[in-house]
Amino acid sequence: MVRTGVEICGAGYCYPALIGSGLLEQLGKYTGKYVRGDTCGIISDTNVAPLFADRVKESLTSAGFKATLIAVPAGERSKTLKQAGMICEQMIAAGLDRQSFVIGLGGGVIGDISGFVAAIYHRGIPHVQVPTTLLAMVDSSIGGKTGVNTADGKNLLGVLHHPSLVIDDLDVLKTLPHRELNQGFAEIIKHAIIADAKMFGMLQDWKASEAPALKQLVLRNVKIKSKIIARDEYDRTGKRAVLNFGHTVGHAIERAGNYRKFLHGEALSLGIVAACTVSIKRAGLPPRQRDAVIDLLQRFDLPTCLPKNFPRNKIVSAVKFDKKFEGGKIRFVVTPKIGAAHLSRAVTMEDIREAIDEL
Ligand SMILES: NC(=O)c1ccc[n+]([C@@H]2O[C@H](COP(=O)([O-])OP(=O)(O)OC[C@H]3O[C@@H](n4cnc5c(N)ncnc54)[C@H](O)[C@@H]3O)[C@@H](O)[C@H]2O)c1
Ligand SMILES: [Zn+2]
Repeated sequence: MVRTGVEICGAGYCYPALIGSGLLEQLGKYTGKYVRGDTCGIISDTNVAPLFADRVKESLTSAGFKATLIAVPAGERSKTLKQAGMICEQMIAAGLDRQSFVIGLGGGVIGDISGFVAAIYHRGIPHVQVPTTLLAMVDSSIGGKTGVNTADGKNLLGVLHHPSLVIDDLDVLKTLPHRELNQGFAEIIKHAIIADAKMFGMLQDWKASEAPALKQLVLRNVKIKSKIIARDEYDRTGKRAVLNFGHTVGHAIERAGNYRKFLHGEALSLGIVAACTVSIKRAGLPPRQRDAVIDLLQRFDLPTCLPKNFPRNKIVSAVKFDKKFEGGKIRFVVTPKIGAAHLSRAVTMEDIREAIDEL
């Protein structure tokens, strides 16, 4: 399979995302083109490092780099300020300095924490994103948002620090558990709803994830996200906010399930259904389009209704809790039709409660 590259550019940043097969073996060569310095830290997790870190390290060594591997326990619980501090200590002990760079090898958790470390280490060193989940390829590795969680909530501390290079080697997805792959499709379906009706149609006919089709799909999603961000990097005009479609309720469901019941993409799937329900009322979405969205989510084994005994009240409280960090206002993204989305000020807490009750 031939490698495809796409430039991700906006005001003050421009970096390529390379998408293809067999890229880990060539990582050293590509990195040399985009990053200066000859020492780096490979930050990974305890699931991903045993699978791919040797290959990455060998490729870097043969291209003349000195690489130190730092693996943190797999999972969201590692995305803390304390863990970021421990990574920095290990980088200092390994002699990494201002001329060094960081490679994040893993899913979104590793992308976020390694990017955060790169942003603060010696006031900022280059970051190379090597996403190993579908979610990280189509979403978290693009856009420069890095950060960690606090006991109060997710992603409350962070810095905008764009990577210098993104390497999407599709081969790594072969070891990704089915449930993890499908949660990546939740973000892809979100992109289709907010910006790409044609891709929505393609997904309705999606067969097994054959390599060339998958490459085109990842490319298309990287382009969708980067185009939206280029219009509103700092989330000031509301244009970037459309990427939050389905996330108001999705995040609340994650929180209400103590981050254990649902994966992020699964909670998002439910949040997308709720956002479609609100959109019927507040944006004129035709009800049959919500039905088509539900069908599509189900094709990827994503949940579209809540278990009977799930504490719905907790979801409503969690939506209110999120508002606390947004100045108390409800910024809710609605879709008037598949392929378009905008922020609405007309949505009330009652609309959201009704949509949750219907799940
Ligand atoms: N920065 C952003 O813009 C942004 C956007 C969306 C999500 N995020 C963040 O991304 C995180 C979620 O990302 P995620 O879903 O990739 O989670 P993750 O990084 O926890 O990865 C999911 C699981 O899959 C394992 N894994 C990863 N790659 C594998 C592979 N190739 N083979 C086998 N196992 C593999 C991991 O060890 C982990 O157990 C959240 O912290 C979220 O806040 C950030
Ligand atoms: Zn998301």
